[in-house]
Amino acid sequence: MNLPEQFQALRISQDNGEHAAAWQAMPSAELSPGDVTIEVHHSSVNYKDALAVTGKGKILRRFPLNAGIDVAGVVIASSSDAFDVGDQVLATGCDLSETRDGGYSEYLHLDSAWTIPLPSSLTLLEAMQIGTAGFTAALSLYRMEVNGQTPEQGPVVVTGASGGVGSLAINILSAAGYEVHAISGKTEQFDWLHQLGAVSCSDRNNLYLGERPLESTIWAGAIDTVGDHMLAGLTRVIAPWGNIASCGLAGGTALHTTVMPFILRGISLLGINSAQCPTSLRQQLWQRLAGPWKPQQLQQIAHTNLQRDDLFDYCEEMLAGKIHGRASVQIKR
Ligand SMILES: NC(=O)c1ccc[n+]([C@@H]2O[C@H](COP(=O)([O-])OP(=O)(O)OC[C@H]3O[C@@H](n4cnc5c(N)ncnc54)[C@H](OP(=O)(O)O)[C@@H]3O)[C@@H](O)[C@H]2O)c1
Repeated sequence: MNLPEQFQALRISQDNGEHAAAWQAMPSAELSPGDVTIEVHHSSVNYKDALAVTGKGKILRRFPLNAGIDVAGVVIASSSDAFDVGDQVLATGCDLSETRDGGYSEYLHLDSAWTIPLPSSLTLLEAMQIGTAGFTAALSLYRMEVNGQTPEQGPVVVTGASGGVGSLAINILSAAGYEVHAISGKTEQFDWLHQLGAVSCSDRNNLYLGERPLESTIWAGAIDTVGDHMLAGLTRVIAPWGNIASCGLAGGTALHTTVMPFILRGISLLGINSAQCPTSLRQQLWQRLAGPWKPQQLQQIAHTNLQRDDLFDYCEEMLAGKIHGRASVQIKR
């Protein structure tokens, strides 16, 4: 198959400060360069995608660009020795939809240096159902375990539990043998969170983690997608030598805390940046996501498969906090 001269992409532009996002025909000559060319089959929707598509967050660093931080498809041309025509591949983060064209596009050039061969036990659709969200959850757990976290230490709590990262974190932690507790603002989703592996669920709107630098300990570790007051609260109640993986800012970017939990309890605050993760670790984590950490309830989590035009409404609903779980996007018709 040859790269057509024109194809459809969800292109974001900014003219005189005005945000515009629309599916439109674009010439292949304008695509960001790369040594691997793919026909895109699926993408997904992450918080960052919702910010980019609606224009409510500054994600793109140049214009115009195609949106979509995740992509999975089949190689149609390659000048890299690492990939052949017909290979199934995926990419998440890696500047897609920031400085180069992203995955909401029928075709895409990728850089072979960060293109991941699809693990044999995943389909292209499953890879995108996991996507950046699942990869971020896996990177969080990986960093916690490198820093000594074990299931024997006690329960790990997940905040923003009903979101993409949160729900996949619950499922992955559960697969890895952890007792998982969930904090969510959606009490109506507590049954669903239990099905994914959470043994207890707390309503974030009625949660009080104290005011003192050190409160009674509750959890052995945490994966936090919320930030701000939630993250500050977690530092007060994580047990000695526990880890908090800070991966999100759904509740805000501030962090007001003290050094006391760090110097008196030896807890660790681990920064999670999925977008710039080194390729060797990326490959290792995708192998885990296809094996021992494969989310067992993936279809219950990624219950929505969007068609291209559904993206706009979905992104608005996501930012309004109305969705739970994850959505893949069907790109290939
Ligand atoms: N570091 C990285 O590499 C990386 C990668 C992916 C995502 N992220 C970040 O992780 C976060 C989650 O991403 P996502 O794709 O999972 O988004 P998502 O599906 O929209 O999930 C976000 C969840 O956060 C909770 N939430 C929303 N607004 C909140 C508020 N004002 N206060 C407290 N909780 C709130 C909600 O969960 P409940 O209703 O269940 O509480 C919501 O479902 C985002 O901040 C995203 O930017 C970071």
